[in-house]
Amino acid sequence: MRNKVTKAVFPVAGLGTRFLPATKAVPKEVLTLVDRPLIQYAIDEAREAGITEFIFVTSRGKSALEDYFDRAPELEMSLKSKNKTELLDIYNQTCMDSGAIAYVRQNQALGLGHAVWCARHLIGDEPFAVLLPDDVIAADKPCLKQMLEAYEETGGNMVAAMEVPEDKASSYGVLDVPTGMSPVLPVRGMVEKPKPGTAPSNLAVIGRYVLSPDVLKSLDNQTTGAGGEIQLTDAIAAQIEAKNNVYGYRFQGQRFDCGSKAGFLQATISFGLSRADLREELEDYIYDMMAMRQAAE
Ligand code: G1P
Repeated sequence: MRNKVTKAVFPVAGLGTRFLPATKAVPKEVLTLVDRPLIQYAIDEAREAGITEFIFVTSRGKSALEDYFDRAPELEMSLKSKNKTELLDIYNQTCMDSGAIAYVRQNQALGLGHAVWCARHLIGDEPFAVLLPDDVIAADKPCLKQMLEAYEETGGNMVAAMEVPEDKASSYGVLDVPTGMSPVLPVRGMVEKPKPGTAPSNLAVIGRYVLSPDVLKSLDNQTTGAGGEIQLTDAIAAQIEAKNNVYGYRFQGQRFDCGSKAGFLQATISFGLSRADLREELEDYIYDMMAMRQAAE
């Protein structure tokens, strides 16, 4: 039996400049998808996968994010006194147990690898998960849960993977894998942000990882890679040479790139349509709008 993975790292130190001006005052991770902050989707996914220790790598200006997971005594008392049990349930889902979340600062934006490395003392010598909250994944079985089940068989290191169009590969970490449709693929190499036309495949890394503590040791070197940043992809790739134990996992589900405005809007529509209390009104609006657009053409 492998060590159970109970710790997850959430890198949330970014400035979120793509969402300016909103992010001048509000961390990107608390922007709302329907009625929940973006970060809650990643937290819920991790909880459902059995994660009990949550490590946030933050930076200046993220206090709204820290407050969000705390108790809000005035709100709690008001909901209780008015007997608003449904709202209290929703509220309770956002309150984490004391000590379940730890915050560590990344005081310089040196890359994703560096952000994860900032959590090294809290992770210690055990396998851990990393979730990038910008990647929101709608799935019947949460993506990280799918991966941890597969990881039970493989051990080593596992990255979520998804086919992307060839002209988009240079925005991702890309895997060199044997062809085939199996969900678990042994990785022969991985490249962060390959130059157009040089990607080893069209299988891109999506922001869910299950990693061995060896990756943190590789990050100790602080070697820079693509874009002059310390890349997580490079530290994982180093494990291929050392131990040949890196796997790509083709997950079941739909991924939304909530790091982009278009992706955030698509996720908003899709999650809105999947909500029983919103579906009808939203569908009617979308049909009417499409009809009006067609009529105007
Ligand atoms: C990060 C990773 C990249 C991965 C991507 C998934 O890139 O470095 O390997 O493919 O997330 O969203 P970023 O989007 O931070 O540039």
